[in-house]
Amino acid sequence: MYVFKAAVVGAGTMGGEIAQVIASSGIPVVLKDMKQEFVETGLTKAREVTEAQLKGLVDKEKITREQADTQLGEVTGRITGTTEYEGFGDVDFVVEAVPERIQIKQAVFAELDEVTPGHAILASNTSSLAISRMAEATSRPDRVVGFHFFYPASMMRLIEVIEGEETSEETLQTATTFAQQVRKTPIRCGEGPGFVVNRILISAVSEVWRATHEGGLDVKEVDKVIQESGTAPIGPFYLTDLLGLDTVLHVAEHLHESYGERFFVSPAMKELVQTGDLGQKTGKGFYEHG
Ligand SMILES: NC(=O)c1ccc[n+]([C@@H]2O[C@H](COP(=O)([O-])OP(=O)(O)OC[C@H]3O[C@@H](n4cnc5c(N)ncnc54)[C@H](O)[C@@H]3O)[C@@H](O)[C@H]2O)c1
Repeated sequence: MYVFKAAVVGAGTMGGEIAQVIASSGIPVVLKDMKQEFVETGLTKAREVTEAQLKGLVDKEKITREQADTQLGEVTGRITGTTEYEGFGDVDFVVEAVPERIQIKQAVFAELDEVTPGHAILASNTSSLAISRMAEATSRPDRVVGFHFFYPASMMRLIEVIEGEETSEETLQTATTFAQQVRKTPIRCGEGPGFVVNRILISAVSEVWRATHEGGLDVKEVDKVIQESGTAPIGPFYLTDLLGLDTVLHVAEHLHESYGERFFVSPAMKELVQTGDLGQKTGKGFYEHG
């Protein structure tokens, strides 16, 4: 099945950029969140990313300033914001990007089942949760699939296409082709907690969280050493601030529940989430953000 029109639910850290990726590949997309201000945040993010990409092309003299202005209008013109499910009646593919809580995701999948055409594929950007649990909330479990972008979605090439218990081969094929249509590299994986990338990444980062906690180390010093040694481009605590502390905490807790002690849940992160300091998106996490 070819995707002529798509939708994204949740316009937060991931949703705005996912809509941008889809729109810049020439596909119209509806972006939904619960409040207009959240929709606007996603639309602004999509615009800023497009501007930065086009500026790069102008600077390298690949396109002219006039062409960049035209393309900016075309890409942003393909994204329609909504707080209702307006425009979902003729979509072919939906990417859900709401918070990493199974109850929230199941409620959204039940709503999507009502408002989208029967042929539409309902995909989740979940970082760790079981696709089959979301599929249970719908009447089309064969058309539910994982479609996991990485942060920042406009730059990272990989998409994990995750197979739930009842996901059909046709759905997996459409999701794989759609990932290529939006110029990404799909890999297929099973729905084990954390899938492939987060199971590896969080396992490594988990040890850093554990060592920092047990040794009473300063998070900024830890980040500095990791970055300056060339082990990673940015330190794990700063990265967590960018990803969103609540999202990372939910993933870490889910991996701890699933795999036991080898996945550590950082008490410092838990404390910050309890006080509402979620990282860059709220202005403060392990770091202060301007
Ligand atoms: N942050 C990351 O780096 C990252 C990377 C890959 C995947 N993910 C996954 O993507 C998903 C979203 O994460 P995020 O970091 O963008 O979260 P976020 O908290 O930044 O954004 C979630 C958005 O969903 C909205 N929302 C909540 N309930 C909704 C509903 N019923 N209908 C419409 N919108 C609703 C919220 O208002 C918010 O704007 C999660 O499953 C997460 O695990 C996150």
